[in-house]
Amino acid sequence: MEAPISSHDWPNPLPDELARDLRSDHAGEVGAVMIYRGILAVSRDPEVRSFAEHHLETERAHLRSMEALVPESGRTRLLWLWRIMGWLTGALPALFGSSAVYATIQAVETFVDRHYGDQIERLQGVAAWAQVRQILVSCQEDEIAHRDEAAALAGQQLSLPLQIWTRCVSLGSQGAVVIAKKV
Ligand SMILES: [Fe+2]
Ligand SMILES: [Fe+2]
Repeated sequence: MEAPISSHDWPNPLPDELARDLRSDHAGEVGAVMIYRGILAVSRDPEVRSFAEHHLETERAHLRSMEALVPESGRTRLLWLWRIMGWLTGALPALFGSSAVYATIQAVETFVDRHYGDQIERLQGVAAWAQVRQILVSCQEDEIAHRDEAAALAGQQLSLPLQIWTRCVSLGSQGAVVIAKKV
């Protein structure tokens, strides 16, 4: 990760669209930390725990970057909701074993990769926001590594209930971003 830059370093007032994007990024990283805390609250599988502890450390670093980027006045007012939803998104699959955990993380990180990718594309060539873009690029690289690690561990064949669950996780992530951009 790059050294965190803070909202005080910005050369201009934050455009509305970027403020909304960053609000959703901050909410997402709060949720990500809680996903891994949910997994660790439930799972006793040493492999799953080591996976979750390692990812949790990275997500905490992402959250610190987002906290530096997004002033308190610009953060979502629904943090309590993203915390609960994140925790459940980790804890529920952990009740069903390692494959469910890995498939869930693969689904979440597939979504987050695209979420950051869209923003990175929009900030391409905007000199004033190059530093912000670089933070997003750095987070995205970590999320891709998380996704690929989870995909390798999840295996190819997901059971039907797991396919339905991961679809719900993807749709839930999309919905959360839409709401976090507004509130
Ligand atoms: Fe993250
Ligand atoms: Fe991640």
